[in-house]
Amino acid sequence: MRALRYHRYGSPDVLEIDELQELSPAAGYAKVRLAAAGLNPVDWKILEGRLRFVPLFRGPPRGVACDFAGTIVGLGGGATERHVGERVMGSLLPFGRDGACSEYIVVAYERLVSLPREIDDIQAAALPLAGGTALQALSDHAHLAAGQRVLVIGAAGGVGHFAVQIAKHRGGHVVAVCSATNVEFVRQLGADEVVDYTRDDFTQREDRFDVVFDTPCASSFSNAKRVLTGSGCYINTGADTASAISAAMSAVVARLTSRQRAIPVILKNGPPIWRRLLDLARKGVMHAHVRTISMNEVGDAFRAMATGHGRGKQVVRLD
Ligand SMILES: NC(=O)c1ccc[n+]([C@@H]2O[C@H](COP(=O)([O-])OP(=O)(O)OC[C@H]3O[C@@H](n4cnc5c(N)ncnc54)[C@H](OP(=O)(O)O)[C@@H]3O)[C@@H](O)[C@H]2O)c1
Repeated sequence: MRALRYHRYGSPDVLEIDELQELSPAAGYAKVRLAAAGLNPVDWKILEGRLRFVPLFRGPPRGVACDFAGTIVGLGGGATERHVGERVMGSLLPFGRDGACSEYIVVAYERLVSLPREIDDIQAAALPLAGGTALQALSDHAHLAAGQRVLVIGAAGGVGHFAVQIAKHRGGHVVAVCSATNVEFVRQLGADEVVDYTRDDFTQREDRFDVVFDTPCASSFSNAKRVLTGSGCYINTGADTASAISAAMSAVVARLTSRQRAIPVILKNGPPIWRRLLDLARKGVMHAHVRTISMNEVGDAFRAMATGHGRGKQVVRLD
């Protein structure tokens, strides 16, 4: 079977399509024929070795990508509701060596969820990491309620474009921050107002926000404080080590000094949030804006993603 992999950390130039032995699932595992793999910034960060110091993290040879959708083609035995022919989606843990840019993978039964008929494989593979982060941030951390005001920084990106749609669904007034080229895209997602950050600085606004969701970590709690309500929260994604540490420290300081909060999101990437995402997608609340690519185009996709100016999602078609 073919799989996109790398044998040492490096730039996308180290990616190769390897021919591997067919997999056979052990008890408790399903063999999945993959149809689509969703790309995320974490995938190129792993490729470059930026996470190599994370405990339990396994180095190359490794496969590429975590998020996937496909169809079960074999079961390894043991009690399960799973069945051959079932369409499923999921996301591999980033610690292991398996990647979703592969013809087949073997996954534990409990790390798969069933796909409803209405959701195609490309849409499903776009959801887990980016959609899960947006949903967890706005719903579980911010508890965004109808009528509240939310500022989404990086509104055109993978996480941000889901965040705009989720925030509108929850009845929020959404002010979206993006560059000039994405203003129309973000408006079409449903944003009430759009701020082009190359012309206007959101921290100088006179209005206040219950939530500032900083998806690319382009700002900070101390910058956002001025535009937060007295009990508002600033949430970021810990895009790099510095912003993760800064958000964690801000979280402590904010607790001690005010009612405002700073929250670094660490996604609980598993079946409960995937089911919630699928439910929202099935109801038409959120739709991934996807550029579909082939395995051969992943290197260029990573190069583009590393500039920090992604629009929507990039999904690799594998079938
Ligand atoms: N903590 C977690 O569990 C978790 C989970 C998922 C993702 N993440 C992290 O979250 C970050 C965002 O992920 P993503 O998938 O959304 O990335 P993405 O698709 O590349 O989107 C990033 C967005 O940021 C915008 N941007 C760049 N510079 C900006 C600036 N100065 N001001 C405002 N917006 C700016 C870009 O828009 P323009 O082109 O319009 O500038 C782009 O749309 C990544 O670092 C990722 O690793 C963390």
